[in-house]
Amino acid sequence: MKRDFLSVLDLNLSEIKALFDLSLKLKKSSGEKVLEGKEIALIFEKPSLRTRVTFEAAISRLGGKPIYLSPQDIQLGKREAVKDVARNLSLWVSGIVARVFSHRDLEELARESSVPVINALSDLEHPCQALADFLSIYEVKGDFDIHLVFVGDGNNVASSLMLLSSILGSRFTLVCPEGYEVPNAIFEKAKELGEDRVRILRDPREGVRGADFIYTDVWTSMGQEAEREVRMRVFRPYQVNEELLSHAPKHAKVMHCLPAHRGEEITDGVLDSDRAIVLMQAENRLYTEMALFYAIYGV
Ligand code: CP
Ligand code: NVA
Repeated sequence: MKRDFLSVLDLNLSEIKALFDLSLKLKKSSGEKVLEGKEIALIFEKPSLRTRVTFEAAISRLGGKPIYLSPQDIQLGKREAVKDVARNLSLWVSGIVARVFSHRDLEELARESSVPVINALSDLEHPCQALADFLSIYEVKGDFDIHLVFVGDGNNVASSLMLLSSILGSRFTLVCPEGYEVPNAIFEKAKELGEDRVRILRDPREGVRGADFIYTDVWTSMGQEAEREVRMRVFRPYQVNEELLSHAPKHAKVMHCLPAHRGEEITDGVLDSDRAIVLMQAENRLYTEMALFYAIYGV
């Protein structure tokens, strides 16, 4: 049966740990050609630097060929129904990596394709990002017995991190303004898996007090541009800056999936400091995605 990766919930704990071990190996030595002779379509409805380049590089390094389809090419559900795109692509390629506006479209794509579909970011989750982030945490800390504090919008990145944190046994705090939490179903699932290790707070200073890792992401995600003005106002007290870090333990590292809106959710000073591990996170995108192909293509 084909294996999709739409959510971090699509991998179990032992698969995730194996994926991390393999990612670290792939970081030191080139992998096997597990995608030899395979074309993989990359559907992007939104812009990307890291996700596009790391997926193209991962596929090439594993012997496959990426076929990039830009927002103009497909126009999911507009130029053509999602199921027709899925059924056509399944005739020619061995997999689909998709960055979409609507998670429902992604689910339909997966349902209607006979080839594996990987979530390269949707409005609901960014699971590939969360894998690279927890690999980075593991590289810094050596285990998952950590407290990750996400300060800002309960968005796609926060949702995947909250779920993965619960699976791995870490503690997770989301610090956000009222009305900007992760979807309730995600919070409930995370609590089911992580019991009292997951919580939502309002006060950033209280939130970062016991943090080992402090994470932030943009206040306005791709597709939410119309809300930008309101969001700039609501999230202002949630900026990760030098003052906020003075309330966190000295060892706490700062994380961001990037792209960053410097001067909004994070200051230059913090992002460029040696407390930030953002480039390690970006680098690990490549190796976790290579390892994900091994997991999906059964090697
Ligand atoms: N972090 C991340 O997904 O970056 P891109 O939007 O540039 O792919
Ligand atoms: N939350 C951001 C993440 C970008 C990688 C967005 O969806 O735009």
